[in-house]
Amino acid sequence: MSTIILGIESSCDDTSAAIIRDEWLLSNLISTQKVHEEYGGVVPELASRAHQVNIIPVVDRAIKQANITIEDISAVAFTRGPGLLGSLLVGSSFAKGFALAQDIPLIEVNHLHGHILSHFIKTSAHGKHPNYPFLCLLVSGGHTQLVLVESYKKMSIVGKTIDDAAGEAFDKCAKVMGLGYPGGPVVDKLAVKGNKDAFEFAKPLPHGLDFSFSGLKTSFLYFLRDQLKDSPNFVEENKEDLCASLQHTIVTILMDKLVNASRKYGIKEIAIAGGVAANSALRSAILETGKKLGWNTYIPELEFTTDNAAMIAIVGYFKYLEKDFAGHDLIPQARLPF
Ligand code: KG4
Ligand code: ZN
Repeated sequence: MSTIILGIESSCDDTSAAIIRDEWLLSNLISTQKVHEEYGGVVPELASRAHQVNIIPVVDRAIKQANITIEDISAVAFTRGPGLLGSLLVGSSFAKGFALAQDIPLIEVNHLHGHILSHFIKTSAHGKHPNYPFLCLLVSGGHTQLVLVESYKKMSIVGKTIDDAAGEAFDKCAKVMGLGYPGGPVVDKLAVKGNKDAFEFAKPLPHGLDFSFSGLKTSFLYFLRDQLKDSPNFVEENKEDLCASLQHTIVTILMDKLVNASRKYGIKEIAIAGGVAANSALRSAILETGKKLGWNTYIPELEFTTDNAAMIAIVGYFKYLEKDFAGHDLIPQARLPF
């Protein structure tokens, strides 16, 4: 008999529900919250309220699109953290209520494990997954980590940012250029038309496998401030080049550490995950470097890079097989340890 998992993801500003049958994806619905755009960042209280409005319709659509009935669902998996507490509360309360009503097991999932294991979601277009042990560069709006993955539940962080996350560097620099929120996708798009060598920004490379992005952000800000004194239209006139140079700097920092980690651990199974894994320059850099260094590279489909419930459901599936269930007394945690 097949195992069907309903996954719920509500850690930040996207409400998502997905259905997985064994490792195969049947549906993955994401309701993006537009309400934050005018504020230039996620407003936590508004996010919780939007999750409350969205969650039932999104789950309903995910079930219908998967062409199953509620009774077919074997277990419900939800994001316990890390994330915004109010947002996590909506998803976890819904999951508990659903599990109770259907009398099925409840499974807690760490959001970051979800990003890393998103490579194991099978779709008609995608069936290849990394072999253990593999190295994963996890890059999102809140996290930048190099993770050594030995099994679906044995993972250790071997390098991390000592200040800002890579996604934050994209978002904050985009914000000062007036490009809106989230900035990463806009920078990516504009960078295509720009010259990556037009400007040079600080490239801090702290010791070992750790990352740092706050110095880059500061050097970007100071550079713009100086230029704007003499030419008020500087950003408008140089948008493409600024984006290309900024993106190139971020990608170079990420790749430098990834290459070092691969050498240090002697691992050539290399994956990327998280929202910034959608970045076109990072995706090509991984492929190019991988070819040169003989890596097997794993790049997630765009749908599974940013927050989605399919990645929560796949972890739920692995936990279900081991009967690793959660109690109903479990509470979400904004800073859930890795
Ligand atoms: O994983 P995610 O959806 O949410 C978190 O868990 O943080 O990642 C969101 C981040 C944002 O910082 C966004 O700007 C960035 O991913 N992002 C990108 C691209 N698409 C999303 N950054 C660079 N290039 C992109 N194409
Ligand atoms: Zn995420």
